[in-house]
Amino acid sequence: MNEEIVLSAAEMVREKLENEGSGHDWFHIERVWKNAIKIGRTEKVDMFVVQLAALLHDLADDKIVTSEEESISEINYWLEGEGVPAGVIEKVLMIIQTMSYKGGNGRSLGSLEAKVVQDADRLDAIGAIGIARAFTYGGSKGQPIFDPQYEVREEMTKEEYRNGKTSTVHHFYEKLLKLKDLMNTESAIQMAQERHQFMEQYLEEFFKEYMLEVDE
Ligand code: ADP
Ligand code: NI
Repeated sequence: MNEEIVLSAAEMVREKLENEGSGHDWFHIERVWKNAIKIGRTEKVDMFVVQLAALLHDLADDKIVTSEEESISEINYWLEGEGVPAGVIEKVLMIIQTMSYKGGNGRSLGSLEAKVVQDADRLDAIGAIGIARAFTYGGSKGQPIFDPQYEVREEMTKEEYRNGKTSTVHHFYEKLLKLKDLMNTESAIQMAQERHQFMEQYLEEFFKEYMLEVDE
């Protein structure tokens, strides 16, 4: 029964995000879902809550929708329609509302389930896939690959994080390279190591090529 609801959530989200063009498409959700299951197996968590939250986590994101509140009530309505118990719905909605990074201004997480889903989402922002997603997101915003006129911002409000001027290579320093130290669970900490090293290697190569072009 729970499995059916999970599959039905997957189907609903797949239809909604199939054509999303900023790196939050269905394939992102599918990877987060799989990683959340993998991480969740190593922790004492309610896997029904973990899976529903992983699948629904981007549906109320302010990058994708105009009203976070409206989207939350839509998700609530959908879960009720599927016969999900009120206690589960409450946990799932809480996770979706608290896990976003927002320039480091996100609220602290209340449950272990939230930590698992946040780790799974963050793993998808780093490594080879994270690099691809960052340039996809940057491209969708018309942001340059790299622009040396910008400074790396250490502190920023949620507003500055979303709308401030930056380049995608700057985003690595403003967020992506910080994520490995922000993982909550032991298994995500392990999984983050290799992905982090790969990004460092990528940036080294990037600047090597960049400097060569300047020298010529
Ligand atoms: P959250 O939804 O957790 O707040 P973000 O909006 O920061 O997460 O990021 C979602 C995805 O978009 C991540 O893969 C992230 O790296 C990418 N992203 C966000 N802001 C930028 C940016 N300014 N430049 C490039 N990629 C970005
Ligand atoms: Ni996400």
